[in-house]
This record gives sequence, structure tokens and C-alpha cells, in this order.
Amino acid sequence: MSEAAVEKALDQKMNTVPFKMVGRDVSVYYGEKRALFDVNLDVRENTVTALIGPSGCGKSTFLRTLNRMNDTIENCRVTGKITLDEDDIYDLSIDVVELRARVGMVFQKPNPFPKSIYDNVSYGPRIHGLARTKAELDAVVETSLQKAGLWNEVKDRLHEPGTGLSGGQQQRLCIARAVAVSPEVILMDEPCSALDPIATAKVEELIHELRANFTIVIVTHSMQQAARVSQRTAMFHLGNLVEENDTDKMFTNPDDQRTQDYIMGRFG
Ligand SMILES: Nc1ncnc2c1ncn2[C@@H]1O[C@H](COP(=O)(O)OP(=O)(O)OP(=O)(O)O)[C@@H](O)[C@H]1O
Ligand SMILES: [Mg+2]
Repeated sequence: MSEAAVEKALDQKMNTVPFKMVGRDVSVYYGEKRALFDVNLDVRENTVTALIGPSGCGKSTFLRTLNRMNDTIENCRVTGKITLDEDDIYDLSIDVVELRARVGMVFQKPNPFPKSIYDNVSYGPRIHGLARTKAELDAVVETSLQKAGLWNEVKDRLHEPGTGLSGGQQQRLCIARAVAVSPEVILMDEPCSALDPIATAKVEELIHELRANFTIVIVTHSMQQAARVSQRTAMFHLGNLVEENDTDKMFTNPDDQRTQDYIMGRFG
């Protein structure tokens, strides 16, 4: 097959990936201030979607609408519709705790609980009743730490505090904690910004592997990171979704001038 034919086949493949989450006319207000304007964005299954754009453009705000973390912010109001599979996640019948188990989150600053490594990972499965016996719980802890690429580094110190790990290890612990409840989607808000280049590379590699089993949405300020880890990229500017496209296209031949300017470092 010629290079063009391969590319076309890949494009077609990308275009047939089912949508895991769909956002329609999503607007967000903080009191009187409107932070997002009628955003229409689809999140594809088993795909890494990167959200990029200058500071204050609404990336974190949009990310938080996907598991209703905005509910925790006073004065914050969301309009429009967001579905997970077919479920409207803002419907009154939705149990938010259950929703956040299906759509997990990893934050910018690693935030392990002030507890042991074991307890950090086993907490979610315990409260969600995902393990019936100690042996089952042990197994969930081990596989989650393995998926987060941390098992070998911590297997002999599971009962030491999570806060005693290095920054990069703590972030992988937080990823293990997110993975432990078997979420369908994992949201990551600048997960590497507090990490050094080596720890960043580890987390990026991990994101690449997690994609096989999870749908991932990641906010990043690093164009290189977006290009390395994502298959789809969405560009925000002043609360608007400017463009959403295959990552390769976004970084070589974007449709919108604002995307071009941003990735060339002309603003932001
Ligand atoms: N809790 C809040 N209360 C009031 N306004 C907020 C709140 N959080 C965000 N905003 C406002 O909403 C807009 C979008 O903010 P958001 O944090 O989503 O941007 P961002 O793209 O994630 O920026 P950054 O790259 O700096 O993290 C900004 O104008 C911001 O000031
Ligand atoms: Mg942000």
C-alpha cells in the first residue's frame, strides 16, 4: 500500500471509532462569567484526546464537566448535554459517585491520600464493593499498580505511606488509584506538569498503554506531549472549541488559523 493509502485507511479507521462521550452545546458559567460557549466535542473510545489552548481558555472547565467535578464548585452552572455511552450524565437519576467511578480523574499535582500505598489503591475498590475478600483486594491492588507501571518499585513497601514516594511515583500511584475502580474513561489535567522529564516520559508511556483498556482525555500545555500521546486533539480559545481533529493533522495542517498560531507559539 502507498503511504497515502495507508493514511487514508488509518483515517477511515479513526472515523469509525465509536464515541464514548458526547458533549452537545456545553456552556459553563461561574456566576455571571461565562467560561465555555456551546462546545460540541466527542470523545472516542480507546482513544487519547488531548485538550490544548492558552491559559484560561476553558480546558480544565471542559474536562471537569465530563465527570461533574464542576458540581463541587460553588456558583458553577453547566448547560447543554453530555452523554456517557447513552446516559445523560446530568440527568437527575445519575448517582454522581458512581459516575466518578466510571469517569475517573488524575490531577495536576499528585495527591495521594496520607495513607499507605496499599490503602491508596484499595480505597476505591473497597467503597465500591469491587472485592469481596482480602485476597481479591490484594489482587486488585497488584494489577492496578502493574497497569500504572509502579508495581516493581513498590511491591516491597506497600504499607509505607504513599506520600513518601517521589513525585513521578506519586503520580503513577494516583493513576493506579484511578485505574483500581475499573473506570471506562480517565480524565487527566496536566498530569505531568509537576514531573521531571524522566517521570514525564514514564507517565506518557503509561498513557499510551492505558489506551488499550480505557478512554483518556488529557489537558496539556505541551504541544510535544499532545503530539506524542494523543490520536485526537481539541483546541480551545477564549471558551470556544476552535477545532478538533486527528492529532497528526492538527500539528501539520490545522484547519483554523488560531490553531496554527498557537502551535507555532504565536500566542498563549
Ligand atoms: N472556580 C472558578 N471560579 C470562577 N472562575 C473560574 C473558576 N475556574 C475557572 N474560572 C474561569 O474560567 C475560565 C476558564 O478557566 P480554566 O481553568 O478552565 O482554563 P484552563 O484552560 O484550564 O487554563 P490553564 O491552562 O491556566 O489551566 C477562566 O477565565 C477562569 O478564570
Ligand atoms: Mg487548567
